[in-house]
Formats: sequence, structure tokens, C-alpha cells
Amino acid sequence: MLPTKTRQFFSPTILFALKSSLNRRILPGFRALQDGGLLLETPLSNSCTVRLLSTTGVSRQKDLKHFKAGAEKKDSVDNDHTRGNEIYRMPHPIWSEQEVNTVEITHQETKTKVDKIAYGCVQFLRIAFDIVSLYKVGKMTENKWLNRIIMLETVAGVPGMIAAMARHFDSLRKLTRDHGWIHTLLEEAENERMHLMTALELKQPGALFRGVILLAQGVFVNCFFVAYILSPRFCHRFVGYLEEEAVKTYTYCLKCIDDGTLPVWSTRPAPSLAINYWRLKEDAVMRDVILAIRADEAHHRVVNHTLSSIHLNEKNPFSPGQKKL
Ligand SMILES: [Fe+2]
Ligand SMILES: [Fe+2]
Repeated sequence: MLPTKTRQFFSPTILFALKSSLNRRILPGFRALQDGGLLLETPLSNSCTVRLLSTTGVSRQKDLKHFKAGAEKKDSVDNDHTRGNEIYRMPHPIWSEQEVNTVEITHQETKTKVDKIAYGCVQFLRIAFDIVSLYKVGKMTENKWLNRIIMLETVAGVPGMIAAMARHFDSLRKLTRDHGWIHTLLEEAENERMHLMTALELKQPGALFRGVILLAQGVFVNCFFVAYILSPRFCHRFVGYLEEEAVKTYTYCLKCIDDGTLPVWSTRPAPSLAINYWRLKEDAVMRDVILAIRADEAHHRVVNHTLSSIHLNEKNPFSPGQKKL
């Protein structure tokens, strides 16, 4: 670092000469800015840094200000520790109040052998998990709900990523086009991960729980990958039926909130992360979050049943962030 007095001595003109001669090198005491400017780090009153020189044009600086204002508008909740992450997230549906309240439990009839096997697998897994997790045995407390949601969402985030990866490699290996599926599948994977991140705002699992998650992921990732190589049609149908069950589960969760079994989620403020992600109103509560998650699951239900029904080389009918219930 240059001595402070020396750094304060430099006039903007000298700095310009320095920057020109040094080309892209960064001097001690100077910090390169993303927009190509040069920042001199010097203590002036309470501010840590001051912009002395920038190669950014006036119009470009206006753009930057506009960009920053836009980012702040998106992440409107001040205490969200993930604030600013929105620009890295993939497009996803933003639901209206009417949409989240009109989600229904539906079931796509099993028509083919593949459908029947997929539905059978989902029913077996659902019954087994319900027994192990003591679902609906005794009172479904907030802790029980969080355990269930965390466990299920760690699994739910797997298929989209594996399917996207498999199709990506398929495209590379066979020198063929993907027809737009990969993006939708990645959107789904991230959306499921955001369900998990939301639940983790309310509870951090212990060591044993984390061990179970590790084991479950180890098994499910490998099984799903092999299954996707063998039959993508089966896998999307499997996920479609899995999402049917997820809609049932979140519908029951809403019932628990409304009938007084889980009253705390009708008043507990929604995590800021969730408010920012789903663009909920600032005074949203956990019930609003569950409504948004249920709508997401209903959307995944339609997407996966559709992808299972169309040809693997058919164009993806879903555009980025498109809503479909
Ligand atoms: Fe989910
Ligand atoms: Fe889902």
C-alpha cells in the first residue's frame, strides 16, 4: 500500500497518466472497478473510498445507476441476507393471488405400462416415507412439517438437474440439438432448491438429519441418472406423479394452517428470501409461502407430465419462466 499522504497527493491528471502508462495493471492502493474505472483507496472523512477516475462514459454511468436502482427494487426487503442474488436466479413463475388459490389436486390417468410402473413407484415411495416420517401420526407440528419439507425438497431438486445434465451430455455425445428442454429442467431444479432454502430459513437440521439427507441423495441421484438414461419418458412421468403427491401434501399443510392445527404459519412472517423470490407482499406470512410453493409443484406436475408425453426431440413447449397450472 502507498502511504496515505502520497496517495492523497496524486491529482486526477497524474492518475490518468498512471493508468494510461500501466495499461491494465493495478497499483497497490488502487482498485480496478468492474466498469473499467480506477478507484483510489483513501480515508476521506467517513468514506472508505472515492472515485477519482473512470473510463466509464456519462451515458454508461447513467445505465449503471439505472441497473442498481432496478436491483434494489427487486430485492425490496432490507434484512434478506441473500439480497442481490436475484440476478443469478433463473426465470420462474410469479403467481397471482387468484392463481395460488385455484390450485387443485389432480391425477393423470395411467395409460401405458410405463405410466403404471411410474405411478406404482411413486405410491410405494410415498407410503414408505409417510410411515417412516410418522406423517399424520399425532399432531403435525411446525417442526414435523419443516422436517418433512426439508427432506422432500432435498430429493425434489434432483430430477431436474439430472435430466438437464443427461440431455446436455446427450446433445454433446450425439451431436444433436436439445430443443430447449435443458433450460426448463434447470429452472425446475433451482425452483425446488429455493423451496429448500426457504424451509432452512426456519430450521437448521442437526447432524443425524444431514446424514440421512446425504444417504438419500447418494442413492436417489444414482438411481435417477441410470433410470433417465434408460427411459426419460418414465422419469418425467415419475416426477409428474411425484408432483401430484407434493400438491396433495402442501394442500394438507394449508388445511392444517387453516383449521388451527398449525396456526403459527398463519401469522409467522415469511422469510425475506421467500418474499423476494416470489415477489410476495412485504407483510406476507408462511401461509402465503406455502401457497406459492404449492403452485410451483402444480406447475412442475404439468411440465413433467407434458415432457413425458411428447417426443424427446420435440420442441420444449414451455418458455423461460412460463406459468402453467
Ligand atoms: Fe418443491
Ligand atoms: Fe416440485
